[in-house]
Amino acid sequence: MMNFNYQNPTHIVFGQDRLQELDQLVPANAKVLVLYGGGSVKKFGTLEKVLAGLGNREVFEFSGIEPNPTFNTLMKAVEIVRAENIDFLLAVGGGSVMDGTKFVAAAAPYEGDEVDLLKAGFAGAPITSAIPLGTVATLPATGSEMNMGAVISHDIGKLPVMSPLLYPQFSILDPSLTFTLPPVQIANGVVDAFVHVLEQYVTYPVDARIQDRMAEGILQTLIEVGPVTLAEPDNYDARANLMWSATSALNGYIGVGVPQDWGTHMIGHELTDLFGLDHAQSLAVVLPSLWKLRKDKKRAKLVQYAERVWDIREGSDDEKVDLAIEKTRDFFESLGVKTRLSQYGVEHNQIENVIKALEAHGMTALSETGDQDLNTSREILEDAYAA
Ligand code: NZQ
Ligand code: ZN
Repeated sequence: MMNFNYQNPTHIVFGQDRLQELDQLVPANAKVLVLYGGGSVKKFGTLEKVLAGLGNREVFEFSGIEPNPTFNTLMKAVEIVRAENIDFLLAVGGGSVMDGTKFVAAAAPYEGDEVDLLKAGFAGAPITSAIPLGTVATLPATGSEMNMGAVISHDIGKLPVMSPLLYPQFSILDPSLTFTLPPVQIANGVVDAFVHVLEQYVTYPVDARIQDRMAEGILQTLIEVGPVTLAEPDNYDARANLMWSATSALNGYIGVGVPQDWGTHMIGHELTDLFGLDHAQSLAVVLPSLWKLRKDKKRAKLVQYAERVWDIREGSDDEKVDLAIEKTRDFFESLGVKTRLSQYGVEHNQIENVIKALEAHGMTALSETGDQDLNTSREILEDAYAA
């Protein structure tokens, strides 16, 4: 196992009917900006409960944070925060709203050009302070509710913003708030959480048994509850397990002391940016082909994944790996998420534009060892096109 530090300050408030506890969670004298998306939280009554939970505090609202939140939209919220001296941000929504709120938290006190926050990427945003924030998560998928990352879209690309100052102070995870999700968003959430685990697990072995077994546990849980959630939309226990799986997949805990890949995500972000695929759709397209092309590098963990997650015990290592890749693709497809780039209306000659974007964003040495160059990424995309 590799050396690591682990500290996660987010207070998780999990379960049904907890929104009234906002009163204890948000500082009593806070001036609050509630941020949300295109209106689902208004339509389904969540916003009303949130506002009731905030009691007599001075509250402002900012709506219209879009899926794959954009810099330009978020800068409008930054203006409100600055003009009104807001001192607490409350995100109510999915990953896009939570991520957007994190960006606002970082950008509002920032004195330089706010685009700097995007350019820093994984090196960490150059910020020394951020407005405190909390979240009410309505979509289990990204893990944003318990991590320090955000992904923001700008003309220069879809880029990560990372800082320990961006952990939510608290996140309310009420699985019953997810009952209103359309099936496509449930499926997206399952796939996103599944791939988060895989990018921290299918690398190379470092004898990290707790991390491996937790990863395997989350994967098996998602395989069980994903289809049940879709088939039984009123099943609270399935929703609860899905929600905690998604949070556990990317709150840092399974990623300590182990190598990580994130190549699927980095290529996926370009597909979203260029062609508008949903985040999870982009991952479902890239991951099976990335594994197919790079199975020699990932063989030991792919065999472990095949045996322990899919219970594939027969055959040679190669046969186990191939079957595990096939089962992963079939799992995504069974949820209704297509796994070929050609199925999303992308022209074949666009692959070169993806490569150009990866190059422009410095994504030229991906993978757990940094050995995935643009040529390999091109091969992956060629394979993913109509694999
Ligand atoms: O905008 P509203 O009206 O709220 O509708 C949303 C949106 O249209 C809807 N929705 C959310 N909760 C709902 C609901 N509809 C009905 N009932 C509910 N309870 O769902 C749609 C999609 O929402 P969005 O927030 O975009 O989805 P998701 O949670 O999948 O977030 C995706 C974003 O997160 C980023 C992605 O890149 C993408 O921008 N990611 C963030 C990460 C992080 N912070 O750690 C990691 C991930 O890998 C990912 O990159
Ligand atoms: Zn993701």
